Amino acid sequence: MSQDEYILGIWDGHDSGAAMVRGGQILYAINEERLSRRKLEVGFPKRSIELILRRLDLSPASVKHVAVSTFDFAKTLTRLFPSMKEEYYLIRRRKKRPGVLTSLKKRAKYTLTEWPPSGLTRRITLRVVGRELERLGFRDFELETVDHHECHAVAAAACSGFDEAAVITIDGIGDALSGTVNLWRRGQLERRSTLSGRESLGIFFEHVTNLLNMRELEDEGKVMALATYAYPVPDEKNPMLSWFQVDGLTVHARYGAHETYARLRDLLWQYPSEQFAYMAQRTLEVKAVEFVRKVVKDLGVRRVALAGGIFANILVNRLIRLSPEVESCFVFPHMGDGGLALGAAMSLNARRCGVTSYPFQDVFFGTDYTDEEMQAALAEAGVPSERVSDAELPGRVADLLLAGKIGLWFQGRMEYGPRALGARSIIAHPGSEKAKDELNLRLKRRVWYQPFCPSMLESAAAEIFEDFRGQLDPFMTNAYKVKEAYRDRLRGVIHIDGTCRPQILGPAQPAPHLYRELLEEVGRRTGLAVILNTSFNLHGEPLVCSPADSLRTFRETRADYLVLGNTLAHG
Ligand SMILES: [Fe+2]
Repeated sequence: MSQDEYILGIWDGHDSGAAMVRGGQILYAINEERLSRRKLEVGFPKRSIELILRRLDLSPASVKHVAVSTFDFAKTLTRLFPSMKEEYYLIRRRKKRPGVLTSLKKRAKYTLTEWPPSGLTRRITLRVVGRELERLGFRDFELETVDHHECHAVAAAACSGFDEAAVITIDGIGDALSGTVNLWRRGQLERRSTLSGRESLGIFFEHVTNLLNMRELEDEGKVMALATYAYPVPDEKNPMLSWFQVDGLTVHARYGAHETYARLRDLLWQYPSEQFAYMAQRTLEVKAVEFVRKVVKDLGVRRVALAGGIFANILVNRLIRLSPEVESCFVFPHMGDGGLALGAAMSLNARRCGVTSYPFQDVFFGTDYTDEEMQAALAEAGVPSERVSDAELPGRVADLLLAGKIGLWFQGRMEYGPRALGARSIIAHPGSEKAKDELNLRLKRRVWYQPFCPSMLESAAAEIFEDFRGQLDPFMTNAYKVKEAYRDRLRGVIHIDGTCRPQILGPAQPAPHLYRELLEEVGRRTGLAVILNTSFNLHGEPLVCSPADSLRTFRETRADYLVLGNTLAHG
């Protein structure tokens, strides 16, 4: 078995993208949105594939193995007729008004997604995707399909670092399933049970998001945040709790997708939005956690690796992390469908080369730029700047940050996944209400109830959290409760329930250039190595990718300063 084949994974649906692996290494992984500049892009990931090949100095003809994720009926149909997914994308993102047939089409969409993959959908997928690749110059290559939930599961398992674990995937729907339970043992993934598309906790939450006039598949985090502002509805008065039943290693839903939607609409009429959100969040928490605990008990393992869109919900993840049955919990950092391309590549790499684990230290799998490229972009934008040495930069930035200034921070390779982790971040004082408000007004335009997040060193996490158990969280996948005594000092990054979603960096964790040094400097001056860290982008746009993107954002937001490698520019 050769271990050194280049294997390309692609995903051409919601948050499309591409990834290249070789041996046990993730060489590159990027989502198309960063290049097309359309958030959660749905188009074929042409730019991602071209960029990966260019950056790895490979010709398309030299890549002989490609895996594509998902080949159910609905997905295959959109491969044949891409205008269908484009229209849904534009309506979902409020770029186009729904037409008279929209609700009918939506009904059809939810019905068709429950139709499973078949030999025919596989052949059509191979043909359509194969042709796209040929257009890019690929020749004499083997293209394979990989099941949707296998992509989620393999990514979670192979990156978890666990020898043995329960691997659980739960999402909206993909390849007619809304979840799977797998036993991972010494590199083998054995599927133990499935959750059908009809029983989807993900689609339930998608409906809730849509009914609150938010964008489904995008604003679920806002629903979670809104829920914490509600006067709690007692469980016995929450009818949603009876709609899902955990049964053995699966979940049963009382109603199908359409009836669930109708019942939710009726409930929303009776309750204020935040209580409606609360009931949905509570249902998700109770059912997902009950399910995970049941799986852990039944499989007789105490470690869990999780993927699928449901595990973007950090409050659900927190309850799983704190469950007495769970010894250790790993959430794949790109848990939603944006992570499918990497999962597809890993699955094919396991099949072909027997590679089943990846030394997973960080997620900086995206583009980086040379100093010359950054200088050229600065010159072209006509932004005055100064060079600052490695030794001086953390101190200079700490001065600005602690004075309440808002900074844009651009270093090294871009993050893979939904979170900014110090490569493309906006940084500010974690305890300043003024900085938080300004950040909202000038840059992020977030809804008022959605909090910002902190980056911190492990030493700070151990000091400020009630429920830190020593497991690092470098990818912001979990919530932690801040001790009462620290809440005022960190009010810019704490939610109303006292929780926050931190990036916790251990001493050995790879971090972007000078990011750890900045945290250390802030720690020396304030006693707490914590800063506010939010994604470097304008409201409604994807994370910035290039120096040119970052300079455009700098100009439009009039942020106080921009750090581009070792260059500091003032606004
Ligand atoms: Fe999925």
